[in-house]
Amino acid sequence: MMTSKLVVPKYALVAVVLLAFACSLTSAYDPSPLQGFCVAIDNPASTVFVNGKFCKDPKLVTADDFFCSVNIPGNTSNKVGSNVTAVTMEQLPGLNTLGISLARIDFAPRGLNPPHTHPRATEILVVIEGTLHVGFVTSNANDNRLFTKVLNKGDVFVFPISLIHFQLNVGNTNAVAFAGLSSQNPGVITIANEVFGSNPPINQDVLTKAFQLDKNLVNYLQQQF
Ligand SMILES: *[C@@H]1O[C@H](CO)[C@@H](O)[C@H](O)[C@H]1NC(C)=O
Ligand SMILES: *[C@@H]1O[C@H](CO)[C@@H](O)[C@H](O)[C@H]1NC(C)=O
Repeated sequence: MMTSKLVVPKYALVAVVLLAFACSLTSAYDPSPLQGFCVAIDNPASTVFVNGKFCKDPKLVTADDFFCSVNIPGNTSNKVGSNVTAVTMEQLPGLNTLGISLARIDFAPRGLNPPHTHPRATEILVVIEGTLHVGFVTSNANDNRLFTKVLNKGDVFVFPISLIHFQLNVGNTNAVAFAGLSSQNPGVITIANEVFGSNPPINQDVLTKAFQLDKNLVNYLQQQF
């Protein structure tokens, strides 16, 4: 049998190295606050003005500005059987400008955190109690691929920024998870509410064609949200 030696031209190697360098530059970034912290404040007395925001005078800042508690489960007696307790700059003023936030998610047995996206944040989720079926769908350019996993206590999963994702409690007990989000204001777009529950409603001709549904079914769905 003949073995052939692979010959790679020098310019091709240089191109590969340059490409790898360019990729590492474009795929790695981190928010960079312009100051150590800027505790958000509503009343502009006793403030300094930094980066276009009112910030509490650093001399008046206390430990409590960086503290809040999410020890109380959210009420899951609703249609989907889940409840998100957000910790953003609104609940924790010390988060302002720091590019990070948190959510506690409670699930009743079989409860669902329905498909949604965070336009400004990647989410990293850890299960504290129970068993969750979680997943996200990639963009059109990536063939709408679905990635799912069943998570138990202590398991961690990451949902890339802006992709549609969900979490379903597949256990017979309550479940609790915490999520870290890479924005102080991640934003939430819940797909079903957005599409079928808009105010005013989206023209039914748009929805029948887009989702290939009967008009009666569109009507029914619009009444649910
Ligand atoms: C989530 O729980 C809180 C606290 O119990 C409650 O005030 C809120 O209405 C609940 N939200 C939903 C969507 O059920
Ligand atoms: C949870 O919400 C339901 C429905 O709104 C309400 O009837 C119930 O009293 C609430 N439970 C608690 C503990 O607040």
